[in-house]
Amino acid sequence: MAKLWGGRFSKNTNELVDAFNASINYDKRLYQEDIRGSIAHARMLVKCGIIPEADGTRIVAGLQDILKDIEAGNFEFSVALEDIHMNVEARLTERIGDAGARLHTARSRNDQVALDMHMYMKRQIVEVAELLLEFEKVILSVAKQHDKTLMPGYTHLQRAQPITFAHHLLAYFNMLQRDFRRLLGVWEDADIMPLGAGAIAGTTFPIDRFYVAEQLNFKNVYANSMDAVSDRDYVLDFLSFASVLMMHMSRLSEELCLWSSTEFGFVELDDAFATGSSMMPQKKNPDISELVRGKTGRVYGELMAMLTTLKGLPLTYNKDLQEDKEGLFDAIDTVKFTLQVYRDMIATMTVNTDRMRWAVSHDFSNATDLADYLVRKGVPFRKAHAVVGQCVAYAIKEHKFLLDMTLDEYKQFCELFEPDLMEALDPEHCVNARVSYGGPSYVKNDKQLEKGEAIVKEQ
Ligand code: ARG
Repeated sequence: MAKLWGGRFSKNTNELVDAFNASINYDKRLYQEDIRGSIAHARMLVKCGIIPEADGTRIVAGLQDILKDIEAGNFEFSVALEDIHMNVEARLTERIGDAGARLHTARSRNDQVALDMHMYMKRQIVEVAELLLEFEKVILSVAKQHDKTLMPGYTHLQRAQPITFAHHLLAYFNMLQRDFRRLLGVWEDADIMPLGAGAIAGTTFPIDRFYVAEQLNFKNVYANSMDAVSDRDYVLDFLSFASVLMMHMSRLSEELCLWSSTEFGFVELDDAFATGSSMMPQKKNPDISELVRGKTGRVYGELMAMLTTLKGLPLTYNKDLQEDKEGLFDAIDTVKFTLQVYRDMIATMTVNTDRMRWAVSHDFSNATDLADYLVRKGVPFRKAHAVVGQCVAYAIKEHKFLLDMTLDEYKQFCELFEPDLMEALDPEHCVNARVSYGGPSYVKNDKQLEKGEAIVKEQ
């Protein structure tokens, strides 16, 4: 196959080089952007009097036909033509002749690929934002159903203090909200239009870059042609957003694995969202959560790979930059898939409220409340802490929990204990006593829920 850049070469490219050099197998997903970008470029060339109007008309019609062919699956991509840009351009020229050969006036693949990537990134940001929002809504609705579901909260994976399931889920909602904000931040740098930078130093033709930006809905235009063809900051920003989001999803995944174990038994995944074992007939495994946890590492790797690719690159374009695609595409696919499957998995899982309630009534997670009780009777907190520590040690020895001890047993440790201590130990009381801002009491949680619902509605 003749190369579009073949003029100065006297030999055909080695087949291995063709295969190694080509990006078409993955950059073909940029076809829409490549064609829309070329149409905008052609219209600009006509407007600025750089190519005849008749050629512009032929180019636009030819590109629209190619778009239809690709969408109908009637386009054969060629590895020898390297990438999406040359596949489309070569086919166009094959179909419309010289007019097609004029399309690349005042343009290089360096600014063309940058344009495609910016456009693709903007489209993906919108799609990911929508999925993130849907998932946030599911988290909020499950939280709403469980605003009074008591459970133990953990630190060091040891029972710590009573909370509600809603409070736990709302913690994730807040993380996801920050992820959403970070994603919107990626938009700023994606919304800069690079075309017209040429290969490195702009062009001798009287182009209008702002007209291209206007046609393609870009807010800004790169102010420096060398920056325009070298910059991949927006790719890094997306990968960094994706890494933090996946880290949050991975923490939730770890909790789902724990909660769906027999030892916890707090949730049961719907049968449609779990898998079995080919050997052990009893098994119901949380594979999706494990996979999300696993895939998180891959997304981190993609961020590291891109940072590493960029760190030693001299300005401006170097072929290393072609390596910006596979990792980014994989991260986008992973994030979208994760959000979709989690949206449906969390919406359908069964929450074992009785089991959670039982757990929080059979532990020492109410011990802080007993210390607070003594503080209210005038005991300094450090002393109260020590007294309750002794009560706990005693209870453990007697195979009891704090609620099982009699007033006489309590009096051995402090004269200030009265019958009302039992109320202080009730897990529901413990939760509702925590009325500090951001705390888990039903009232404060309802406020957090309302606020969350209002935020999501606005977005
Ligand atoms: N496939 C290339 C990439 O993704 C397109 C730009 C190639 N430019 C060049 N001068 N070889 O980066």
